[in-house]
Amino acid sequence: MRPLPVAVLASGGGTNLQALLDHERDGPSYRVTLVLSDREGAGALDRASAAGRSGQVVPFKGRATDDVEAEMLAALESAGVEAVFLAGFLRLIPAGVVARFRRRILNIHPALLPAFGGKGMYGHHVHEAVVAAGVKVTGATVHYVDEAYDTGTIVAQWPVPVRTGDTPDTVAARVLRVEHVLYPAVAEHLALHWCRDESPPPFRPAGECFHTVSTGPHDLETSLSEAFPEA
Ligand code: GRF
Repeated sequence: MRPLPVAVLASGGGTNLQALLDHERDGPSYRVTLVLSDREGAGALDRASAAGRSGQVVPFKGRATDDVEAEMLAALESAGVEAVFLAGFLRLIPAGVVARFRRRILNIHPALLPAFGGKGMYGHHVHEAVVAAGVKVTGATVHYVDEAYDTGTIVAQWPVPVRTGDTPDTVAARVLRVEHVLYPAVAEHLALHWCRDESPPPFRPAGECFHTVSTGPHDLETSLSEAFPEA
């Protein structure tokens, strides 16, 4: 079966892009054929070229949304992509791009949406808010992208404990390890069905795929029993 050609959109360092690229070897249901960034010099573009994939910059700053939208659509069409994965892309996706790829455009968010999401809730801001709120559980969410920030239908979530003494940095690192497992697993699941023009059934995370990141259910239970000793 031919792997589904996909684009990854990234503004930053691109560790999730890397996880998606690395996973292609194990589950060949998709292939990243284009990496698109809004920023010259984004680390994600270096990862694309190291992997021999095309990279392209579509600047957003100071431009009319219609122009950005047209340029994005042209780039995605000419690369022949059939799905789009956002991986740390900090711009709102123009409505015409959402419409063209509806239910074929995903994002990963480093918290359990709908908590700690929305405009301005990205990167470190998310983990700072999580620690400030004193919540005991955070996590990663993969969701479809719609016309607003972080409001699309949720596809998959995985919880991550927040421990006493955690800082935004320690939480961010723990969540990021889960993102690198969750995103490729969800991408593979959906792409397998999209390849066959099927509507994907719900994603069911195989617990064992999280064994390599020590933040799975067992760890969560330990953390919850520490948080609520009387329970
Ligand atoms: C990740 O935490 C992701 O959830 C969020 O942006 C961050 C991107 O990190 N959307 P990286 O560039 O993939 O390392």
